[in-house]
Order: sequence, then structure tokens, then C-alpha cells
Amino acid sequence: MRRSRQTLALLTALAAVSVPTALVAAAPESAAAAADPCAAWMDRSDSADRRADALVAAMSQDQKLHMLTFGDPPWFTYWGTAGHVDGIPALCIPDLVLSDAGSGVAGLQIATTVFPSGVAQAATWDPALQRRIGSTIGAEAFAKGINVMLGPGMNIARTPYNGRNFEYFGEDPYLASSTAVAVIKGIQSHPVLADAKHYAFNNQETERMSIDARVDERTRREIYLPAFEAAVKKADVGSVMCSYNKIDGAYACENPEMLTGYLRDEWGFDGFVVSDWGAVHSTAPSARAGLDLEMHAFAAGAPATPVTGSAGRYFGADQLRAALAEGELTQARIDDMVRNIVRPMFEHGLFDEPVSPGAGPYLSDVSTPGHLAVARRAAADATVLLKNRDRLLPLQPTDGGRTIAVIGWAANPVGAANAVSGGGSSHGSGLPPRVVSPLEGITRAALERGDRVVYAEGSNVVDARLAAAAADVVVVVATDGSSEGTDRADLGLRPAACVTVFCQAIPIEQEDMIAAATAANPNTVVVLDVGAPVRMPWLADAGAVLVPWYGGLEHGNALADVLYGVREPGGRLPQTFPVDEAQNPFAPEAYPGVDGTETYSEGLLVGYRWYDATGTRPLFPFGYGLGYTTFGFRDLVVRPTAQGARVSFVVRNTGRRAGAVVPQLYLSSPKRAGEPPKQLKGFTKLTLRPGEARRVELTLDRRDLSIWSTRRDRWVVVPGSYRVAVGTSSRDLPLHGRLRR
Ligand code: NOJ
Repeated sequence: MRRSRQTLALLTALAAVSVPTALVAAAPESAAAAADPCAAWMDRSDSADRRADALVAAMSQDQKLHMLTFGDPPWFTYWGTAGHVDGIPALCIPDLVLSDAGSGVAGLQIATTVFPSGVAQAATWDPALQRRIGSTIGAEAFAKGINVMLGPGMNIARTPYNGRNFEYFGEDPYLASSTAVAVIKGIQSHPVLADAKHYAFNNQETERMSIDARVDERTRREIYLPAFEAAVKKADVGSVMCSYNKIDGAYACENPEMLTGYLRDEWGFDGFVVSDWGAVHSTAPSARAGLDLEMHAFAAGAPATPVTGSAGRYFGADQLRAALAEGELTQARIDDMVRNIVRPMFEHGLFDEPVSPGAGPYLSDVSTPGHLAVARRAAADATVLLKNRDRLLPLQPTDGGRTIAVIGWAANPVGAANAVSGGGSSHGSGLPPRVVSPLEGITRAALERGDRVVYAEGSNVVDARLAAAAADVVVVVATDGSSEGTDRADLGLRPAACVTVFCQAIPIEQEDMIAAATAANPNTVVVLDVGAPVRMPWLADAGAVLVPWYGGLEHGNALADVLYGVREPGGRLPQTFPVDEAQNPFAPEAYPGVDGTETYSEGLLVGYRWYDATGTRPLFPFGYGLGYTTFGFRDLVVRPTAQGARVSFVVRNTGRRAGAVVPQLYLSSPKRAGEPPKQLKGFTKLTLRPGEARRVELTLDRRDLSIWSTRRDRWVVVPGSYRVAVGTSSRDLPLHGRLRR
């Protein structure tokens, strides 16, 4: 359908030959324009703004309206992508091809790399690595003929029950913002736009299509919006996806305060707002509110259901024309919508390097060994070591001959393919089948070292107990059923149904399996391939506990790397692990809502902020995670600056092997600021050799010290004494200092 730039240049040259010389001489400019109709906006050296203006000025009304809604066939029927808008070759507008999602090029795509899921990416606490993950995803998207990646998701883990927490970056706005910025920059280092989703307050899957979220202004600003704000201001994200839910009574996709107020007027967003699939419920009100591009999973005319969201199509040419004719919509707004779409396409190279979806890219294998190496490293660096009794891990080199029992459905190739990522639209297909299961990864590594592996599925406890008792070391692997479309019923690991086509039901009772294995053998390593916190009634008996989250294609290899100490478990918790369901209770009005409304009555007290404020001891705190060595902290110096402060301290590797440490800075505001007891405002990750010490400096800027004043409608710094605390988790902060403002 599209003519490439080269073809166009050739046609232009041929056309020029046949034009009479006298005419060219008389009207050189118009001849050039006639020869290359796109010349006015295809000059790469021109700014995105000017190019967008020139293009919109040259478009007919039909061409403009065409850009504002999805093309047919919709959803996965078009080369396995989530949706597309056909390009307009006459204007050199490339196809816009959108695909899920945060852990790699997913949906019905094949032969792509599945990376560790969003929560795992956040758990690395490593912006450089996150950027590499993003850039590898961007490269694969582009090679697949895709130029909009529908991620990253950056909703805050308000409750551990949200079925989609695995796609997001944890419970803390600072960590989520930093992760989002790194991933987006990576994706957009290719001619591919990222998409900040789901904007906003889409923090549960229960009634996700209709629930009305009531969130006070300060909580919005301080907890739920910062990651989106950072995506716009610090990463220049090309698109934002408005969510299914309502916000203060108005659907997110027809909410002017959200789509125009914060996003454009305050943060200066200059890309496009795309709806979630079926999240549009009106024509003129949505367009006026700030929605630019409508998407839907089904063709025009599809009925509204709890699965599809809204009915059919609202931004069809006829509907938009009718709204214009009725005076409900202005031509200026239509022009803006088109401009919002093409502007980031110019800025990020989508016009200059158009994609070509089709059988070729669809079938091509874009998952290179280099990409798999990134996935493997990321999976190890995201793995959180929660317990390590008597240094059970890493497994010490022996002369070999150990028997390792690998137990669990999730360890075998079928279970591992399911746990490669969570369920729903972001689930990477892993096709052709090449997920390295824990069983495969451990078996390969064990063989190299002369160890022997036996496997038991663990579907009955006798099986699990016998296999565990007969082994020297046990690795028992379990998974949960986190998925888009449903919330988790509890914090357990019980058999789960699959609610989307992109996952399988978990067939076995895994809590009993783990309890049987840990009781039978003290050298049992429990591996939790989960999307969110789970309870651990068997914890006292476990020798070690690892949380790799959903580890992607290289999960088994990375797990073997961690078990044998080839790499450290580099992850730290981006989310608090509660002891059980009794902790951090929600009134039904707050979660999951009553009569279609949920009120965020806990305000700022989300995640560790609640645990701190109520003096509750969680099972494992935010920021926590062990490595294979130990660290000491000393010499905290807090130097005030005009904007905030420079905080420096010395970290020393006090153990016997090299290892990574994630120093974290938490700030406590003066009491009258009314903030939670402490909040993450800085971190870094560094690797130190045994005995090596290094001075680390973290910077606090004005915004880090600020609170949102609802009364003054702006960020303010409350005068008084601030406490600065530094350490390795929200509950282990050996260094304290003060800062006066
Ligand atoms: C609905 C999901 O909520 C969204 O995250 C996804 O990008 C779209 N479907 C497209 O598959």
C-alpha cells in the first residue's frame, strides 16, 4: 500500500523528466511541490512542530478523520497486533501499528523475546538495565513492523490483589517514575512510541470497565500521577492510554481534567491520547475532553459487554462529521487531534523510518542471542532473595554428585510457559516454544557441575515429600494466577482458573506442595514465580526463598545462574509483602468498591506508607532483598543546596564476594506537613568488590521535598526539620541525618 521514500524519489525524478523546461523555469516552487507532494513535511532537519503543522494544513477532511480511529480488521487479526491505523501513502503518512506490551512484543506476536514483567523490571532498581530492556523491546517492535508499544503500565500497586500488578512498577511513585522514564527512553530510542498506561486510577481489575474512582487531589498528585507526569516531562512519552474506569463520575477517556488539565495544560504533553480498547463511550464529549485516537478490540457495531467495554465505534468519520455539524465539536479540535497524533510520529522518526507490517516481519524471528542475554541478565537482576538460612545459597561448588529435586508444575515446560508472564494482553506468547523452564535451566547447569536432577510435579503432597526427602537440595517452584481481567482472590497459591485466552489454569495445590517439601528437607529453596505478594505459611521451614516474579523466556537459565552463584539475586522488593490477608485491610467502600464506586480513603497511606503509619510489621518490607555478600554504611553528610540537598555516605562491601547494593534514601517531612512517616526519594545501585568502599551521593531536589497543597493548588515546601535516612530497605536504615528548610 505504501510507497517507500526511494520509490517516491524515483517517481519524482521520472515525473521531472517529462515536465517542459519552460514550465519548470516559470514556476519552480509549484513544480517541486507537485513532484513531491510530501516535501513540505518530509524534511528531517525541520522541527516536529513545523512538520506536523505543514502536514495537517495539507490534509483533506476525509484524511484527517481517517486518522482518529482504528482500522479494520481490528485487534489481533491484523498481524497479531493490538490495533492499527492505515497510513495514507499519498501524504507519506506511515501505518500506525500498535502492540502490547510491557514485557516485550506480545499479544499474538511470535518469535519475540519475553522479558521479565513490569514488576520485575522495577525490582532491578537499575535504570540503566531498564533502559536496555526498553531499547531491546523497541528494536524488536520495529523489526516486527510495530511502531507503538502499548507500555509501560505504571499504575501504582494500591492493593496486593490487583490482577495486573505484575505489569506495573510497584507501590512507590518515586520508583515507578524512575522505572517508567528509563523504559520509555529505551523504547523511544527507536522509531517506536511508548505508551504510558492506564491513565489513571485503574488500580484494580474488579469492575474495571465501570468502577468510579474517587481520589482526593493530594493523593492523586503525590501517589498516582507522578509516574505519568515523569513519563511526560522526563521521558517525552509519545502517547498516553486513558483507562476504562471512571474518575469522579466521568469515564477516564472523556475526562477533561485528566486528559487536558493535568496532562497538556500542566505537564505540557505533546503526543496523543489513545483510548484503552473499548474505553470510549461518546463522540463529542470524549473528543472535547482530550481523547485523540479511539481504539477497540472489535469491529464497529460490536455490542457493549463487560468484556468489550463500550459498544462499537465513536470516532468514525460519520460520527465526527455529525458532531461537527451539530456544533458539538470544532474543526480546530479535529485539527488538534490529528496534530497530536502526527507530531510525536515526526519527532520520534516514525515518518522517516516507516514500518511495513506483513507476513515477512510477522514471521521473522527477532529474538536474537543478544536480546536473550539481556533477558537473562534482567531476570537474575530482578530476582529477590528473601531468606537464606545459613547461606544455603549460592550452592557451594562440590565435586558434584548432589541430587537436586526440582518440584512443581511451574518448573516444567508447560507451567513455565504459563508463568513466562502474567495473563492477559501483555502475555508474551513464547512461540515458537523456547521458554527455558526452571527444570531445563537447572538440569543444564547441574549437568555441567556433576549434579543430578530429579523432577516431581508436586500435584500430591506424598510425591513432593518423597522427592524432597530423598534429595540433597530441593528447588520447589510455584506460581500464582495474576491476570488482566480479574483480581486475585487472596494471597494464596491455590489452583487458579485462567480468565483470558492468554494463560492456563494452575492445576495443583501449591501451598501444600511447598509445605510438604520444606518440612521434608531443610535445604529447600522456594521459588515464587508470582506477579504480586503471596503469603508464606511455610516460611519458617524454608531454607531459602527467591522471587523471580514472571521471569520471561530466560527464566530457567537465570534461576540456575542465581542458584549456583554465577549471578547474584539482584532484586529488591518494589512492593511490601504482607504477612497475610489480615494486614492492610480495606473497607469494601475503598476496595473493591460498593455500588460501582471506590473511594481511596486511605489517601497517601499506600504500601509501606500504611505499614509505617500504623506500626505494622509486614512479612518483608518495601526495598528489601538479600544478596550474596554484606554491606556496611557510614559517614552520612547532608549538604543543603538552593533546591534541596546533596546527601552522601560511604558504602562498604563487608563480605567475601563482589556484590550489588541498592542504597535507598527515605525522607521524613516535618510533622505538620501531614505526610506519611517516610518516603523514598532517592536510590542507586552499585557493585563493590570485597572490602571495597565508595562514597555515594544522592540529590534531593525541590520537588522531592514538596507536598501538594490543595489549599494553594501547588507544590510547596513546608518549613521545618526533615529527617534523612539511608539504608538497604524501608525498614533497615542505619544512617540518619537532618535537613532544615
Ligand atoms: C486492554 C488492556 O487494558 C490494554 O492494556 C491493552 O493495551 C489493550 N487491551 C490492547 O490489547
